[in-house]
Amino acid sequence: MPELTQSSQPTPLESRALGPLSGKARVPGDKSISHRALILGALSVGETTISGLLEGEDVLNTAKSMQALGARVERTGDFAWKVWGTGVGGFAQPKAALDFGNSGTGCRLVMGAVAGCPISAVFDGDASLRSRPMRRVLDPLALMGAKVTAGGEGGRLPLTLQGARDPVPITYRTPVASAQIKSAVLLAGLAAPGVTTVIEQEASRDHTELMLKHFGAEITCEPEGSHGRRIVLSGQPELHGARVVVPADPSSAAFPLVAALIVEGSEIVLSDVMTNPLRTGLFTTLREMGGSIEETDVRGDAGEPMAQLRVRASRLRGVEVPPERAPSMIDEYLVLAVAAAYAEGTTIMRGLQELRVKESDRLEATAAMLRVNGVKVEISGDDLIVEGRGHVPGGGLVATHMDHRIAMSALVMGLAADKPVKVDDTAFIATSFPDFIPMMRALGADLS
Ligand code: S3P
Repeated sequence: MPELTQSSQPTPLESRALGPLSGKARVPGDKSISHRALILGALSVGETTISGLLEGEDVLNTAKSMQALGARVERTGDFAWKVWGTGVGGFAQPKAALDFGNSGTGCRLVMGAVAGCPISAVFDGDASLRSRPMRRVLDPLALMGAKVTAGGEGGRLPLTLQGARDPVPITYRTPVASAQIKSAVLLAGLAAPGVTTVIEQEASRDHTELMLKHFGAEITCEPEGSHGRRIVLSGQPELHGARVVVPADPSSAAFPLVAALIVEGSEIVLSDVMTNPLRTGLFTTLREMGGSIEETDVRGDAGEPMAQLRVRASRLRGVEVPPERAPSMIDEYLVLAVAAAYAEGTTIMRGLQELRVKESDRLEATAAMLRVNGVKVEISGDDLIVEGRGHVPGGGLVATHMDHRIAMSALVMGLAADKPVKVDDTAFIATSFPDFIPMMRALGADLS
């Protein structure tokens, strides 16, 4: 397994306007699907083959935790991995703490998987993850019989989770639209006898449901209310190893995509980008703003659609983004705010309360990133309002707060700014997009 490169020294970087961006790129594999492929592989019987896995730090930490829980996990080539699982409910007691680094998804999904096994495991992470709320996952898992036996003060890591000997199936209404909460309950529900139901008021990304079906589980998803879903899982299936092809991550594609829209004269092609409608709110919004994003070569694998995106520099205009779109673009507001700063007119992004509990408080961090670069921005309740003036003065130093997406968004902003934009630390980019800097340089970006 590749070693993680945890540098203790911050690595600042500056981006500045150069010429247009051009060329073709494939951003790394989808982070959500990569975590799930490893976890479901580990809960299956037989061999799982994964191609296109994201080899970023977040996912590598999940791979290590699956190994610590008794699965065999091997890297067989570039982005190619194999997993031989323990079967549902078959995790072994880990000998050491499971360290999820920066990753909320890895940590919360594995909590769900552990909750259905009669073992206890210590969950830990970096300073960012230690500050994030875990009660949202621990509460439903407690209803299913799992217990926090040590730590967990204030619902925070580090903590010891004792899984249930006899997990109880539940019907759970998620209090916020969160695929992590939904997935944790479903993964625990795998080991419970009978039917586990999750009801969400707003549909969140459905990769767990699609992949569970692919691995042989009996699971149905029905619409619920105007934007929600009811997911019903039959417990104790025999999951069998499967082949997973990981498409390119739309949340990573968002960075070169917005860069190409804002840098005059640019035209780039991004291949194999996953276009699951529960992930593409950013593309919808950018098109409403006047962005030229063309989809070709539309295909699918295991229920996940993907396409090639051709993106051309465009004159953007401000729009209002409705709150019900938030779950389908929850990780993209930072880079949308950059596009909004380059647009003409005001962009209002509504209902962003969940941004406050991501790798950093992204609502405050986004506002600060824009403000320090001369953009007029306001937070009003849970809404973010950006005054687009068609150009960005730049010249600011952006604090990344251990957040990969702040670092990448700020670097994208600098590519068309009047003055260079500097970020204080690019180290966390490795959590989700290890080749971001060389890939952007290959497209013509000036990052140094
Ligand atoms: C993810 C769900 C989202 C998202 C995260 C990945 C997932 O979090 O922000 O980056 O893979 O399930 P929430 O479900 O908590 O909104």
